[in-house]
Amino acid sequence: MGEALIVDTLESWIRQMPKAELHLHIEGSLEPELMFALAQRNNISLPFKSIDEVKQAYSFHNLQSFLDIYYQGAQVLQTEADFYDLTWAYLKRASAENIRHVEIFFDPQTHTERGIAFETVITGIHNALEDAKSQLKISSRLILCFLRHLSAELAMETLYQALPFKHWIIAVGLDSSELGNPPEKFKAVFDKARQEGFLAVAHAGEEGPPEYIWQALDLLKVARIDHGVRCVEDPRLVERLVKEEIPLTVCPLSNVKLRVFDTMADHNLKQLLAKGLKVTLNSDDPAYFGGYLTQNIVSAQEALNLTAEEILQMMRNAFEASFLENPEKQALIQDLEHSLPVGPVSH
Ligand code: ADE
Ligand code: ZN
Repeated sequence: MGEALIVDTLESWIRQMPKAELHLHIEGSLEPELMFALAQRNNISLPFKSIDEVKQAYSFHNLQSFLDIYYQGAQVLQTEADFYDLTWAYLKRASAENIRHVEIFFDPQTHTERGIAFETVITGIHNALEDAKSQLKISSRLILCFLRHLSAELAMETLYQALPFKHWIIAVGLDSSELGNPPEKFKAVFDKARQEGFLAVAHAGEEGPPEYIWQALDLLKVARIDHGVRCVEDPRLVERLVKEEIPLTVCPLSNVKLRVFDTMADHNLKQLLAKGLKVTLNSDDPAYFGGYLTQNIVSAQEALNLTAEEILQMMRNAFEASFLENPEKQALIQDLEHSLPVGPVSH
């Protein structure tokens, strides 16, 4: 009885607390309903007959099985309006969850490879982010991800395409098929990106070994590691991540859907926190993995019995690990702390 009351209170606090999300692929927020609407608008035929059929196809056994479907879905995105509508749909949902700051990944190569101009992609996304700032009071940063299954030369070409828009982009990142595509492959591209003033992040240690996390730190000089859950296999690496306070953008529902962990109860995020790692919670590709940020926090809380202190710590971590300026970070952290309910959950 008492416990149910505590969980209830904790969940309602989670739902309304001010949030930040640092690991969200905008193409991964494409809901089947919008996929169908855009296919119709652009006269594209989909290999699915209905929205239900699309949802049934979302059963994955590893990262690659997801990526194959994710890249296929992204083909309905063609015009600036499509990229605007995609981004705006995510931001409306984010607003309903009290997400106050978001750092969004986009994968330009998924689109430029099909003949869509870089400018079309980024202008649609950027305009929605601007509207979210004025209409929804959501701040944001944009991160350009290179597709690591493609060559370093194509990544460099993409970086050059981005230069005229660099005032709209805070950082570069690295995503797609991790195994067999180590960070070292992109050292020159990241060197050039940092010279041009971009910050850096990279997916590492999602499916790949701890060695890939070392490379992301030493060769790509990243400020954050996306996922990073396999760091626990290397105690020296954990020590380094703790000492340098490198944030990990962990995505619980994604990790279960892509079989990084068999069930949410097997997820190691509580263990990561106990080691003193700077864990943040994120949704990754919410339209594909069954939940947005709030659902990620609620699911992890229930399965791992996370305490209010642990949740508060992770959300504070997210604001601190963001690429916002310090006064903006501090204001959001204050709002977060003021959102704490009095009573059992704060003890
Ligand atoms: N692209 C979109 N989601 C991704 C993930 N979880 N890992 C690697 N690449 C991705
Ligand atoms: Zn990701």
